[in-house]
Amino acid sequence: MTDLVTIILAAGKGTRMKSAHPKVLHKVCGKEMVRHVLDAAVATGSKRNIVVVGFGADEVRGALGNAAEVVVQEEQLGTGHAVLQAEPLLRDTKGTVMVLCGDTPLLTAGLLQKLCEEHEKAGAKATVLTAIMPDATGYGRVIRTAAGDVEKIVEHKDATEAERAVREVNAGIYCFDAEALFSALKKVGCDNAQGEYYLPDVLSILRGQGEKIWAVAADDYEETLGVNSRIHLAQAEKILRRRKNLELMESGVTLMDPDSTFIDMDVAVGRDTVIYPFTWLEGKTSVGEGCTLGPSSRFTDAKIGDGVTAHFVYAHECEIEDGATMGPFVHIRPDSHISKDVKIGNFVEVKNSNVGEGSKLPHLQYIGDCDMGAGVNMGCGTITVNYDGKTKFRTKIGDHAFVGCNSNLVAPVSVGDGAYVAAGSTITKDVPPDELAVARARQKNIPNWPDKRK
Ligand code: UD1
Ligand code: CA
Repeated sequence: MTDLVTIILAAGKGTRMKSAHPKVLHKVCGKEMVRHVLDAAVATGSKRNIVVVGFGADEVRGALGNAAEVVVQEEQLGTGHAVLQAEPLLRDTKGTVMVLCGDTPLLTAGLLQKLCEEHEKAGAKATVLTAIMPDATGYGRVIRTAAGDVEKIVEHKDATEAERAVREVNAGIYCFDAEALFSALKKVGCDNAQGEYYLPDVLSILRGQGEKIWAVAADDYEETLGVNSRIHLAQAEKILRRRKNLELMESGVTLMDPDSTFIDMDVAVGRDTVIYPFTWLEGKTSVGEGCTLGPSSRFTDAKIGDGVTAHFVYAHECEIEDGATMGPFVHIRPDSHISKDVKIGNFVEVKNSNVGEGSKLPHLQYIGDCDMGAGVNMGCGTITVNYDGKTKFRTKIGDHAFVGCNSNLVAPVSVGDGAYVAAGSTITKDVPPDELAVARARQKNIPNWPDKRK
C-alpha cells in the first residue's frame, strides 16, 4: 500500500444528538467517537491523519491533542465541502486518500484495510464501502445499474420511495485517488433537499467522466453503523461492549455475566481474572492476573496488580498492588497507593495516601493524606484528622504501629515505628517509636448512681 492519508469529518454539530457538545466527542465504551475512528485509521497504517473540525472546534481539538492534524471548516456546508477544507494540506499528495466520518465508532482496522486493498487492486478513482442495513433510515442509498455497477448515492431526504426501499447503504467510508477527489469536489453542487455539498456526489461525477468507481461491501453491517442520535449511541455502546467482552473472554478472562459487565475499550485485563456482574472498568484501568473483581465495583484509571480481590469497591486514579483485598463498601480516592497484601475491610475511605505492605484497615477507617508503613494495624473507627478547615496536613504512621479503636490522629502528626495508640485517643503530638500513647480522660466510676440521680 502507498503511504495512506486519512481525512476524518468531524465538523458537524450533530443536531439530532440534542447536545451542547459536538457529536463526535460523545463517548462509546469510554472513548470519544472521533478517537475510535482515528485509532482505526492509525491501525490501518495511515501515516497522515487530518481531522476536519467546525462546531465546537476547540473542544474537538482538545480531545485530539497531538494525535492528528486539524483543519477548520468555518461553516458546515456539507460533507463534500468539509473534505475540500483539507485540500491546502494535501497539495502535493498523490495516491490514496481515505475519507472517514467521525461518527462511525464501530469500524475496525481490518475492514479499512480490506477497503484500501480492494481500492488499489481495482485501480479505481473512488471506492465506497457499503453495507446492507436492516433499517436503512437516514443513510444514503447505493443505487446500482442493471449490471450491478454503482451509479450514484442518493441521500435519504432526496430519495424516491423506490430508492428508499434499497437496503444497501453508503457507510460514509471511502478511498479516493487524491487528484481525482479534489478536482471532482469542485464540481459538486448543492441543489438538493438539504442545500449541502454532498461528498457522495463525487462518485457519480467521476463515473460521468468515465472513471472507474468501485464498491466494497462490508460483511458485518454493525461495523459501519453511524451514530446520529442518542439511541444510535446506546446501540453502538452495546455492540462495542460485547466486542470488548468477547475479546477478553477469548484471552482468558472470566466474565460471570457479560451483559452486565462494562469495560472500556483501552482497559487491559490479565488472564484468570474473574469479574462479577455490575462491574465497570473504565478509562486507562489495567488489571493483572488472577484477580476477583465485583460484584458492583467501579475502577476508573486504576492500576491493579495480580491476585487482587475487590467487591463493592469504587477506586479511581490509584494503584493497588498484588494480593490486596478490599471490600465490601470501600472508596479508594485519587493518588492512593495500596501496597502488596494490604487488607481493607468494610466502610473504609482512603485518599491521597500510601498504605504499606500488609497493613490492615479492617473496618470504618478514614485515611486521608497519610503515609503509612508496613504491617500497621488500624483499629475499628480510626481516622486521620487531616483538615483544619483551611489546610490539609499529612499523618505519618511507622511500620508495625498499632492504633487502637476509635482514635483520631490530628495532623500534622506522626506515630513512630512499633508505637501503640490506646483506643479512644485523640493524638495531637508525635508518638515516638515503640511508645504507647494514651490520650483520653481516665475513667472514673461513681458508686450508687441510681440513688444519687434522685
Ligand atoms: C452521511 C452520508 C450518507 C451516509 C452516512 C453514513 C453525506 C451527504 N451523506 O450522512 O450517504 O449513508 O453518512 O453514516 O455525506 N460533517 C462535517 N461537515 C459538514 C457536515 C458533516 O464535518 O458540513 C461531518 C459530521 O461531523 C459527521 C460526518 O461528517 O461526522 C457525517 O455527517 P452526518 O451529518 O452525520 O451525515 P449523514 O446524514 O449521517
Ligand atoms: Ca452520520
